[in-house]
Amino acid sequence: MNKLLDAFKQTTFQVNGHGPRKIQVLKEAFENLDGQLESEMYGKGKLIEDFQEKMAFVLGKEAAVFFPSGTMAQQIAMRIWCDEKGLKKVAYHPLCHLEVHEEDGLRELHQIESVLLADKTRVIEFEDVAGMKEDAACVLLELPQREIGGQLPDYQTLEAISAYCKEKGIMLHLDGARLFEILPYYEKTAAEICSLFDSVYISFYKGIGGIAGAVLAGDSDFIEKSKIWKRRHGGDLISLYPYYLSADYYFEKRIGKMKQYYEHAKELAGFYNQCYGVTTKPEVPVSNMFHVHFDAPKEEMEQVLTEICVESGIGLSGHIREVTETNSYFEVSVGDLYEILPREKLMDAFKLLDEKMRTKFL
Ligand SMILES: Cc1ncc(COP(=O)(O)O)c(C=O)c1O
Repeated sequence: MNKLLDAFKQTTFQVNGHGPRKIQVLKEAFENLDGQLESEMYGKGKLIEDFQEKMAFVLGKEAAVFFPSGTMAQQIAMRIWCDEKGLKKVAYHPLCHLEVHEEDGLRELHQIESVLLADKTRVIEFEDVAGMKEDAACVLLELPQREIGGQLPDYQTLEAISAYCKEKGIMLHLDGARLFEILPYYEKTAAEICSLFDSVYISFYKGIGGIAGAVLAGDSDFIEKSKIWKRRHGGDLISLYPYYLSADYYFEKRIGKMKQYYEHAKELAGFYNQCYGVTTKPEVPVSNMFHVHFDAPKEEMEQVLTEICVESGIGLSGHIREVTETNSYFEVSVGDLYEILPREKLMDAFKLLDEKMRTKFL
């Protein structure tokens, strides 16, 4: 039994995200859709093609294709670039999604090796790419770098890496699972950022808050090849409309709110940083996400967070992870729920957090 998660689920107000993943999320997306619309078949049909064209336009690329998952889309992107270069190596961050969350998919399915850039504490900088000891067919940048709290390199670094890769004939791919969430920080459009990359993947269930699904975008030749690989991977479900229609619905609903989420994330991080023994990474968020670190062990923080749920009715987080025996953290992604939080109640929760941290750990 997970005491913290149980207590969290019973709180009146939760601070992070858009709300629980309930069936209602799909029902809402379909409420006003015409039931006579015709489904696509194996990736072919007006509905899916219109959505893909729309996303290609948003990302400023020639073509785009919808995938059931980003995991599938990105492994396929890496395979295509490696085949094209005749070199089975891609370079990326040691904590990127492909390296830590995909059970070695690149190696096991495609015999692609990874070249790790930078170290686990920071983002990839220009010098990491320019100083690469081995050749690679492709460099993959995850923006923001999720496992270090959603940090970002500055925009000039992206431009320099892009120019360098172009000059050296290295393909540059963007893991843009949270691309829309970083636009307010960079003050750029999605298309402007994507113009620095040869291929890009975006997700529809992070800041956008859809059910699942991804889009891969790039030039037409690359996208045609990705469709063949999608078929080989069994990603061509006969109908994917529950995913892309809901993706489109939530894209329209939330794309204009990314600045609000970003501003709220900065405010929320400020509240955490005022508490004893609590720091956020990054200190000032650069998107709607950040990590909250505690100078306290996981088990003790579980207790503290559970008590805050019960005493204030506010759920700060339902999970906490160990960093070391004496440190722990959780991830925050700000979404729709933050704006409806009663301010006094939120302040009560932070007062409690600060008091409990001082009592237990000072
Ligand atoms: C940075 C990043 N890349 C890729 C993925 C993979 O997405 P999917 O769950 O659609 O396979 C995720 C999912 O959490 C992610 O956070």
